[in-house]
Amino acid sequence: MKTITITRPDDWHAHVRSGAVLKTVLPHTVRQFARAIIMPNLKPPVTTAAQALAYREEILQAVPAGFDFMPLMTLYLTGSTTAAEIKMAAGSDHVYAFKLYPAGATTNSDSGVADIKAVYPLLEAMEKYDIPLLIHGEVTDERCDIFDRERVFVDTSLTGIAGSFPGLRIVVEHVTTSEAVQFVEAAGANVAATITPQHLLFNRNAILAGGIRPHYYCLPIIKREHHRLALVAAATSANPKFFLGTDSAPHLTSLKESACGCAGCYSAHAALELYAKAFERAGSLDKLEGFASFYGADFYRLPRNSGTITLEKSAWTVPAAYGEDSLSITPLMANEELSWKIR
Ligand code: DOR
Ligand code: ZN
Repeated sequence: MKTITITRPDDWHAHVRSGAVLKTVLPHTVRQFARAIIMPNLKPPVTTAAQALAYREEILQAVPAGFDFMPLMTLYLTGSTTAAEIKMAAGSDHVYAFKLYPAGATTNSDSGVADIKAVYPLLEAMEKYDIPLLIHGEVTDERCDIFDRERVFVDTSLTGIAGSFPGLRIVVEHVTTSEAVQFVEAAGANVAATITPQHLLFNRNAILAGGIRPHYYCLPIIKREHHRLALVAAATSANPKFFLGTDSAPHLTSLKESACGCAGCYSAHAALELYAKAFERAGSLDKLEGFASFYGADFYRLPRNSGTITLEKSAWTVPAAYGEDSLSITPLMANEELSWKIR
């Protein structure tokens, strides 16, 4: 049987939620990844190191027996974050980054930043204390077409941030456009990007052609085919600026299949298998290990993992849902066949 074995990977962008949903989704992340950058957009958001530590404990309690897993906590940047909190977070053993959500850009982003220039003194503190800034790169202007929001953000905000803080480590999260890819490629070594499985595998037809498919709706929204091709080229280029971040974002099926469905694709159930599909399709399975297991760790200045994980070519059908009835979560590619399986 055909197999591939790679160093155990990490997920550099994951939403694992809390409470009952955490218990459903965390085992999926833990069976594949040694570590994950945990997004702070809970309700209310995780804004202080003390809150992050409490959330970390809740996550550790939900790790199934026999697994080693390290949640890498992040703090949600708001207009009221202080330089003192940034210093404290940078000195904490468990906080690894701040996340900047433009206010209103996505799920639970209401407490985000309304005026990016106004938080420049905080970005300066992050640069000084050397803690990375993770950015949701979309403008929120309602007059801006939703398919253009990332491209416009690159011009109106990202270029300015990167130019003003040349020593700040920045991750442009879940890049979805050729323009964002080009920005990251042209920037200094302090600027990197994560790429999700859905943006590597699908173009916007997946959401809209033949019917509205809410389980393919996430933010930034999946774009045209030429953007997907630019993302695949970046992910498979062995450029260490591009690494794995699923943006796995579980929502209850009832909240996705609704007149106003939530944004987010749940991909943790088969993350590595989905990436393997994308890399195989590009003829670049040999590039999967660097993308999944090396470049993110290097960027965050953490040791690479020591164990391995093996995928085998063995067809299986993704379940229709995970979790108990009232808490059911529909995974990406539900009821469809995947050809790679974690052994
Ligand atoms: O689609 C998304 N879902 N994009 C985000 O940025 C947030 C995420 C979520 O938390 O559900
Ligand atoms: Zn996210």
